[in-house]
Amino acid sequence: MGEVAKPSVSEAPATSGSVCLQRFTVAYEYPVHFTERLFAPGNAVLRDTITRLERERRHRCIVFVDDGVCAARPSLIDEVETYAGAHPAVIDLVATPIKVAGGEKIKNELFHVEWMQGLIQEHRIDRHSFVIAVGGGAVLDAVGLVAATSHRGIRLIRIPTTVLSQNDSGVGVKNSVNLKGSKNFVGTFAPPFAVLNDLTFIDDLPPREKIAGMAEAVKVALIRDADFFHWLERNIDALSLFEPSAMAFMIRRCAELHMHQIGHGGDPFECGSARPLDFGHWAAHKIESLTRNHVRHGEAVAIGIALDTRYSVLAGLLTPGIEDRVAALLELLGFRLWHPVVDARATDGSSPLLQGISDFREHLGGDLTITLLEGIGRGVEVHEMDERRILEAIAWLKARQSVR
Ligand SMILES: NC(=O)c1ccc[n+]([C@@H]2O[C@H](COP(=O)([O-])OP(=O)(O)OC[C@H]3O[C@@H](n4cnc5c(N)ncnc54)[C@H](O)[C@@H]3O)[C@@H](O)[C@H]2O)c1
Ligand SMILES: [Zn+2]
Repeated sequence: MGEVAKPSVSEAPATSGSVCLQRFTVAYEYPVHFTERLFAPGNAVLRDTITRLERERRHRCIVFVDDGVCAARPSLIDEVETYAGAHPAVIDLVATPIKVAGGEKIKNELFHVEWMQGLIQEHRIDRHSFVIAVGGGAVLDAVGLVAATSHRGIRLIRIPTTVLSQNDSGVGVKNSVNLKGSKNFVGTFAPPFAVLNDLTFIDDLPPREKIAGMAEAVKVALIRDADFFHWLERNIDALSLFEPSAMAFMIRRCAELHMHQIGHGGDPFECGSARPLDFGHWAAHKIESLTRNHVRHGEAVAIGIALDTRYSVLAGLLTPGIEDRVAALLELLGFRLWHPVVDARATDGSSPLLQGISDFREHLGGDLTITLLEGIGRGVEVHEMDERRILEAIAWLKARQSVR
């Protein structure tokens, strides 16, 4: 956990009649580092992270590693062991780094969670020890849940290895696994102890994964930062070739904007109904589930962004023409902005994609709140969506594909 302050006890519980009001606040703080070659023995970032709160102690650490990352970089487990061996005074690696199933597999079956909790118990990892998770967003989500629930919360160091997890999910405060097909049903809000982004992991990623993660950068630029959107447009060639310095800037700026929203948006644990960071996501979540995750999260988000940008124009919120600029940017980054499920019809003639609006309302658990655009860099919240306009936006996107 990342909290640094003890609960404030400055206000004594107020007593009124038969009610005693309990109130305290806990401040959270966690560093997000951007580095390269994290496990090179001379790189002090991981060592200094582990000793941040207790300098003199030797810390027990258990490391879970995404098997997809190990396949792409077979030396990884040796690198972690060599690193621990180079810092014996502070790192006590309780076991050889443990490979876990990468991708959605680890979130789909609860036995992975119980198995990892058992290992934590077996290796006597306590609340001052560390769980270290190396992997994509799915592995970080599952290991995060394990860390948050073992001993009611063990310090978690996240080491994200995909574009999406470095620029979005890995820097946030959520974890989860799926239950009987219900995405992210079992999970907690639990800030990490630290996040260590190593850009060299991105080199190992397949191109499809590199492209998918960029959708979140377009999303957050559109709702929060016009300058970043213009930067994305100017750097389209470098990004489409995955040029390292362009990727590094894109990941860092996107991560900063996500962190700012979580830290300063007023609702880090999502108690209210607004989800500003979920622009384009009502459609995206539905496309992911309708295609049983064959469409990657970022690929679905790209389609959702295009639809909701066009919708914003149709709703009179956004200047016409911006939707074409947004769609062109996404296409030049490598996204295909179409999938047959987008305009599929059920036997009763209804649109399964439109069901995504009701699903989103249910997920929020309150009023429907959808983020649209009133300008580049300016998100705006609305509380209803007009079905006819959504269908018009879908027809626009489909027509766009046929002329390409
Ligand atoms: N907690 C949150 O706030 C949050 C936010 C958004 C998404 N998510 C979750 O993130 C998950 C998606 O994460 P993702 O897009 O990072 O993909 P992923 O974790 O599904 O990984 C995709 C594939 O890439 C492999 N891989 C990971 N890193 C690699 C590397 N460096 N080299 C080669 N292969 C590598 C994995 O083994 C896997 O097969 C979803 O489960 C989604 O629900 C969580
Ligand atoms: Zn997303």
